[in-house]
Amino acid sequence: MANTVKINIDGIDVSIEAGKTVLDAAKKLNIHIPTLCYHEDLCVAGNCRVCVVEQEGVKNLVASCAMPAQDGMVIHTNTHKVRNARRHVIELLLSEHNADCTKCYKNTRCELQDLAGEMVINEHMFLDLVPDKNYTIDNLSPAIIKDDSKCIRCQRCVRTCDELQHVSALGVAYKGEHMKISTFFENPMYEVVCTNCGQCVIRCPTGALVEKNYLDNVWDAIYDEDKHVIVQTAPATRIALGEDLGMEAGSIVTGKMAAALRRLGFDSVLDTDFTADLTIMEEGTELLTRLKRALVDKDPTVKLPMTTSCSPGWIKFIEHMYPEYLENVSTCKSPQQMFGALAKTYYAQKRGIDPSKIVSVSIMPCTAKKFEANRPEMRDSGYQDVDMGLTTRELAVMIKQAGIDFKELPDEKFDSLMGKSSGAAVIFGATGGVMEAALRTAYEIVTGREVPFKNLNITPVRGMEGVKEAAVKIENVLPAWSFLEGVELKTVVAHGLTNANKVMQAVKNGTADWHFIEIMACPGGCLGGGGQPIPTTPEIRKKRAEAIYREDEGMAIRKSHENPEIKQIYEEFLEEPLSHKSHWLLHTHYQARKRE
Ligand code: SF4
Ligand code: SF4
Ligand code: SF4
Ligand code: FES
Repeated sequence: MANTVKINIDGIDVSIEAGKTVLDAAKKLNIHIPTLCYHEDLCVAGNCRVCVVEQEGVKNLVASCAMPAQDGMVIHTNTHKVRNARRHVIELLLSEHNADCTKCYKNTRCELQDLAGEMVINEHMFLDLVPDKNYTIDNLSPAIIKDDSKCIRCQRCVRTCDELQHVSALGVAYKGEHMKISTFFENPMYEVVCTNCGQCVIRCPTGALVEKNYLDNVWDAIYDEDKHVIVQTAPATRIALGEDLGMEAGSIVTGKMAAALRRLGFDSVLDTDFTADLTIMEEGTELLTRLKRALVDKDPTVKLPMTTSCSPGWIKFIEHMYPEYLENVSTCKSPQQMFGALAKTYYAQKRGIDPSKIVSVSIMPCTAKKFEANRPEMRDSGYQDVDMGLTTRELAVMIKQAGIDFKELPDEKFDSLMGKSSGAAVIFGATGGVMEAALRTAYEIVTGREVPFKNLNITPVRGMEGVKEAAVKIENVLPAWSFLEGVELKTVVAHGLTNANKVMQAVKNGTADWHFIEIMACPGGCLGGGGQPIPTTPEIRKKRAEAIYREDEGMAIRKSHENPEIKQIYEEFLEEPLSHKSHWLLHTHYQARKRE
């Protein structure tokens, strides 16, 4: 076929699509070529040269990640010359590297360390340059630590922040041996435009960019008998945690995760999915209220389109990049923060526990949630609503530290009171999920009928396309909603901040006619979050998404408004969506920030 090329690698012929690289062809043959600067999600940089191979007829070694496969090429991946060159690269990197592995958070989970091990580099051939360098560790952010002494300047982080996230918080400063990854005026990450999304963290091959971990704080709380430690787990944790504990991508581990959390010593094992359902009740009602103000009251001050507010990376992005649209953001707090506010009010009252003794821990697929938990806006209960936010990766570390054989755990359930949820809440973990969950409930409230999609699956908002539009015609409405008769509700879903930026540009240019916008900061939505197991690749994101939809289909209740604990909390505590108490505990406003 004209659009394929045939090459030979290590004596084996392989055909591959024209435009693909030698590295792609080797992968097709299951031949492993080491890489460092290469990442499947990013454009090719070709700067580390770990992936070099020998091409017959060509004097210099070629970088396989950057070299397009061409008809007739003969490649050798494992010659003496190749092995020496790769070893040389790693030795040079190590000469400038603070390779104090036992003190490093990435110890045993580091690509550089793996390669040094693979190449059996026991002695350093080059002079150790580390003592001459004036390295800095930026640990001021509650979410991310940047340690320049661990950086190998592969620039995956720079490309991630620029290409995928359109933030460009990180750039290359200085030249030659002084070159480093830096921020605006070398300010701490906490003070620049960084959204804390952690997408650079999941792509950094070393310990140079890592989440700030709160493992010891959580253990201390668990061991403190005076404290009542409760834990909530986000939707996307249950389809990814297994990857860090020896299971296949796409394994659903909801029951094992609940069992593990109980064995770790948490006093109550609860679910962020409960407040995801609550978010739908509050956000759906907020959208309908805004539509009524626009369509019936003709109120010129109402802000449409309304955007979702669950993703703290997106919130920080809009605060910096589009502050003039902050009033378009739903006032709903994220499910994590709704849970935190209720933990120290509703839960404390119902359980008869002094809220000052409650320690509220969250397990999130996200590093930005750590920042969100520390926001001054998030103290409506009278305390910090969420005390510590852990990533999915940190939970895996805790499970290993406790010596739990995760794979052999039985499936257990969450505790009751803020532990029950619907399938609509589970799909919050995938791009399009919040929109789908909101439509399942809003359509039914307005018409009294289920959404007109087979088996409740609103497929137009599913999948990995960066921007997805969907329209739902509202007909035969209940009398109270007559103003919506015949309205075509227009929605759009974007994931990854580069796609978010496209949507916001359309809003700004006046070319958009959407009513409701879902934005998630991370590619694929929370399932691809910056706190999820590493690696996170397009293939792995696909498997996690499939698992999320399987979990939804397997749930007895698949609509937020049918969750019995949601009905209970409105009856006993909140009264109704957007009530005075809801506004006090579940809603907030955000602040404009500088764009630098
Ligand atoms: S970044 Fe990797 S090689 Fe460097 S100290 Fe940490 S674990 Fe070791
Ligand atoms: S911080 Fe990490 S991703 Fe960025 S250049 Fe350094 S090693 Fe590479
Ligand atoms: S956390 Fe996100 S926004 Fe911040 S530097 Fe990393 S990729 Fe960029
Ligand atoms: S992985 Fe190919 S040059 Fe870095």
